[in-house]
Amino acid sequence: AIVSIHVSRSDRMSNMNVGVVGAGTMGQGIAQVLASSGVNVKLYDVADEPLERAQGSINRGLDRLVSKDRLSESDRDDALARLETTSKLDALSDCEIIIEAAPEDPELKEKLFRDLSALSREAILASNTSSLSLTRLAAVSERPERVVGMHFFNPVPVMGLVEVIRAEQTSDDTVKRVEQLAEQMGKTAVAIADSPGFAVNRLLVPMINEAAFLVQENAATPEAIDQAMKLGANHPMGPLALADLVGLDVCLAIMEVLQDGFGDPKYRPCPLLKRMVAAGHLGRKSGRGFYEYK
Ligand code: 3HC
Repeated sequence: AIVSIHVSRSDRMSNMNVGVVGAGTMGQGIAQVLASSGVNVKLYDVADEPLERAQGSINRGLDRLVSKDRLSESDRDDALARLETTSKLDALSDCEIIIEAAPEDPELKEKLFRDLSALSREAILASNTSSLSLTRLAAVSERPERVVGMHFFNPVPVMGLVEVIRAEQTSDDTVKRVEQLAEQMGKTAVAIADSPGFAVNRLLVPMINEAAFLVQENAATPEAIDQAMKLGANHPMGPLALADLVGLDVCLAIMEVLQDGFGDPKYRPCPLLKRMVAAGHLGRKSGRGFYEYK
């Protein structure tokens, strides 16, 4: 696997303040990569507990890079010094770019976009949403031209892509600035219009859904399906192991967005996937999905 390495640099963005909203898996990963690429990061969540968990996992992530000689101890210490956690949204008012990585709940995100646009009229508001329309989020903010998508991939420190999603209202300058930030983070930005599933999830999640149909039909075991795709298509992990990594609830939500957005029955979610989500078998995060986790 290719791991992006981030070395602190004193270039144009070094003294930039970037906010991250939401300290879940994606928010932690984004904050870690930002801090190690030389920007000042403020990581916000509603309570101290998720922030403490995030800080612990960022510490471990950076330590792992040090133990592999990919990061020096002093660069790790600098990165940690650039990272601040906060449970006050107001603390983000001096951020030039705010990356929202809150749970995938439309009402929650719309409220956040309203609150964030009241905080600072200048900041670019970027959403890591994997399924919602950026055009709608832009419309609820008070500066739609400065709303954009920055869609990261799990695990964030390892994956090289950021999809930059352009809402109908997004300005060229906004796109340029988030592309520069992605590049500074060691990622490659691919620009894409606001369309259901964007590019990666529109291709990836129907494949996962089809793999769930294979399981439902008892055509093969999850192990066999994953083995087939690893060896037959050179995927680093099979579709069902990937579903467990991404979260079955997230996969289902993306299928529903594709089905609603295109109105095409080819995007119907697999009934087995729906049942597993209803049962709370969400993948790694719940300890059980297509596989079991200790
Ligand atoms: N955080 C940081 N580093 C990690 C990591 C994590 N969570 N997981 C793995 N790594 C690092 C390992 O430390 C290792 O680094 P090294 O090469 O320096 O030793 C490297 O990644 C490879 O890890 P492993 O050897 O443990 O395992 P693999 O080679 O099997 O790689 C994987 C693991 C990187 C997860 C690989 O299987 C993979 O790329 N899988 C596909 C992931 C993918 O497709 N993600 C996209 C999901 S879709 C999405 O996120 C969009 C959303 O909207 C749904």
